[in-house]
Amino acid sequence: MQEFLKKPGFMVASGSMGADLSYLLAVVFTVLFLVAWWMAKKGQGTRHHKLIFVSMVSMVVYFVAYYYARSLGVLSLEGKEGFGGPPEVYDSIFLPVLTTHLTLVTLGLILTPYMIVEGFRACDKLGRDYVLKSGELKADPKKFIRIWLWILGLWALVEGYCLIAGKSGGAQLAYFLIFMTIALVVGLEKLIEKWLPDGARRHRILGRGTMILFALILCTSTATYLMLYVIYPLKAAAG
Ligand code: HEM
Repeated sequence: MQEFLKKPGFMVASGSMGADLSYLLAVVFTVLFLVAWWMAKKGQGTRHHKLIFVSMVSMVVYFVAYYYARSLGVLSLEGKEGFGGPPEVYDSIFLPVLTTHLTLVTLGLILTPYMIVEGFRACDKLGRDYVLKSGELKADPKKFIRIWLWILGLWALVEGYCLIAGKSGGAQLAYFLIFMTIALVVGLEKLIEKWLPDGARRHRILGRGTMILFALILCTSTATYLMLYVIYPLKAAAG
């Protein structure tokens, strides 16, 4: 896998297979989300749900596998040595764009599962169609506690596995942070319930926010890709 991702890319001369493939798929997934948004706007709730579900799940699976295979990704590890432009551009443009991109991706990874779960909770199934139902959408406090206990239990299992498999302290810390984030997002739902009590309205407002976030992720990944492989490729700097 590592070798395959390092092969020369197919889009621009200085790109690698990993960079080109991940950028191309980012474009495909974002277009699918925007089509899903358009379907929702046209009132096609069920088609919207199906497209979003399939594209979001495949996107998360693909990117987690990709980042894992590239040990946290070409972009996140791309320090000054991977950038062929002047140091001032690296500090004042490239790094802020990359940091914004990674922050947005992290937010997207949190919002995506949240929105999928919220979508199911906020909908009624009328025959074969999903329809957003208006009215207060609140989770039972006992359910919250049960979910937290499940998260705690799963985290303990994963940490136990890490200890047995002799994984590094870094991996254990990463899992701790991941589970803590999930627990915090579940807790955040209590605040969101107060802020947007109507489930349908919550879905529309946060859904639009999520769609805009994905469009911004595409803009920042395009800028990063262009800077790394088209405008300031490493070979040009060396040659
Ligand atoms: C990441 C996940 C999701 C996002 C970002 C999202 C986003 C949106 C947005 C932005 C709208 C409002 C469109 C507009 O008026 O501008 C919407 C409507 C809707 N969504 Fe989602 N959604 C997601 C998941 C789901 C899921 C999982 C379901 C069903 C199980 C669902 C069912 C619906 C329905 C039924 C509507 C109303 C369509 C209508 O107006 O008739 N959504 N969604």
